[in-house]
Amino acid sequence: MPLSISFAAEKLPSKGSLIIAVPDGGKLAPLAKQLDKTTGGAISRAIQIKKFKGKAGASFSLLAPAKTTLDRIVVIGVGDPKKLTAVDAEKFGGTVLSTVEKTDGAATLLLEPMKAALSDADLAARAATGAYLRDYKFDAYKTINKPKGGLSRLSIASKAAAGARKVFAEYKAIASGTIVARDLVNEPSNILTPPEFAKRARALSKLGVKVEVLGEAQMKKLGMGSLLGVGLGSQHPSQLVVTQWNGAAKSKKPLAFVGKGVCFDTGGISIKPSAGMEDMKGDMGGAAAVTGLMHTLASRKAKVNVVGILGLVENMPDGKAQRPGDIVTSMSGQTIEVLNTDAEGRLVLADALWYTQKRFKPEFMIDLATLTGAIMVALGQEFAGMFTNSDELAARLTQVGNDEGEKVWRMPLSDTFDKMINTPNADMKNIGGRYGGSSTAAQFLQRFTNDVPWVHLDIAGTAMGSPKNAISRTWASGYGVRLLDRLVKAYYE
Ligand code: BES
Ligand code: MN
Ligand code: ZN
Repeated sequence: MPLSISFAAEKLPSKGSLIIAVPDGGKLAPLAKQLDKTTGGAISRAIQIKKFKGKAGASFSLLAPAKTTLDRIVVIGVGDPKKLTAVDAEKFGGTVLSTVEKTDGAATLLLEPMKAALSDADLAARAATGAYLRDYKFDAYKTINKPKGGLSRLSIASKAAAGARKVFAEYKAIASGTIVARDLVNEPSNILTPPEFAKRARALSKLGVKVEVLGEAQMKKLGMGSLLGVGLGSQHPSQLVVTQWNGAAKSKKPLAFVGKGVCFDTGGISIKPSAGMEDMKGDMGGAAAVTGLMHTLASRKAKVNVVGILGLVENMPDGKAQRPGDIVTSMSGQTIEVLNTDAEGRLVLADALWYTQKRFKPEFMIDLATLTGAIMVALGQEFAGMFTNSDELAARLTQVGNDEGEKVWRMPLSDTFDKMINTPNADMKNIGGRYGGSSTAAQFLQRFTNDVPWVHLDIAGTAMGSPKNAISRTWASGYGVRLLDRLVKAYYE
């Protein structure tokens, strides 16, 4: 059962767990002080014994505190309220949940006013968002040894409860989109085939999103030889999903988001080594982020026109699979010599990007793709690689990425990288040289953008195999949804 999160008036509860938020310095606010008195000073003594100073993330618990009917009192640090960012407030909420998630029943977080850099309402709503994201688990397939019980309700007691409730309705739409993306990325590939993914994308229509699914016959008619070549070895047909959210006037150009959706990447005939290959169930992280983003934008009825395109394929070795050395013709008419069947993501995006700009004439296109191992070598797991022909989009994404804690780092495109994908046998080849693998991959994509303002986000390091943190505990982080929702909200609504 997902955790239920609510907001209530600033009052001391009489049951369950109580979490007291304490800012830098370790001083108790009035209501907490009153409770301390009731307990005969147990809380303030514990603060001294622990040398607790209210540092962000520090916490301790008192069980069955005397003279109260509470199960426990948890004291947790907020850090310096004046320096608190939205990201900090979410981390704080995640940490709050961690202190009580295994306890049964209900918990109350007492957030007394603390003159923070965020308004009290925003602080409470951000903390709720952090708790909500942290609570996400991927355990649907566990039938034995599944942890039972645990926290069922978290109430946040604040003077700003009404305001927080309102803000949280929007934040919850954003976090839900992140969870949609996490679920898709965590799902194994025997379940989440391209047709199954398309079916799940169709569910967006319940939120008012227009969804079309193009099958192989339609894609063949459109000339998508590049995308279709990747799926030749699979038993599951490739799909191109076109989703549209129209929240603004018809005359407004749409924003376009395009996701790589390789439901499993064995490498194809250029097969990958077996160690770690299971991670390639997450090679649809780009398509998952686009799906989650559409979910969010529709849920919060964003006043903007957006298209979300998913290129869904499975890359398998087979008698029918494409071979190294094959030459395919893309929808753009440009031919590609496939020298490595494991460089398949760019082949999928080549046709998806061309189709997107041709059909929708978008304001810009942003693609998300778990495209290269090289981006992880360059940037690790905290930053997505950003490649773009627009300085304006680069600046905006950098800003919103920092604000939302889904960071990007700009990487270079250049003529030198572009030349590296030339080949005598066709218009281009699908691999570059030994070096700069993420840039040559981006350069390949750029040849299919038709000079539309465009950003490529290489999310190989950020979408999957994610290190656990305060607000994300599973293999899939859901990276990209919050970044792009914020971009839309800040600049295009
Ligand atoms: N899906 C992989 C990239 C990847 C690797 C994502 C590890 C996440 C974790 C992509 O299709 C791929 O295989 N890329 C190759 C490109 C090479 C053949 C030019 C790579 O990065 O090795
Ligand atoms: Mn590959
Ligand atoms: Zn791949």
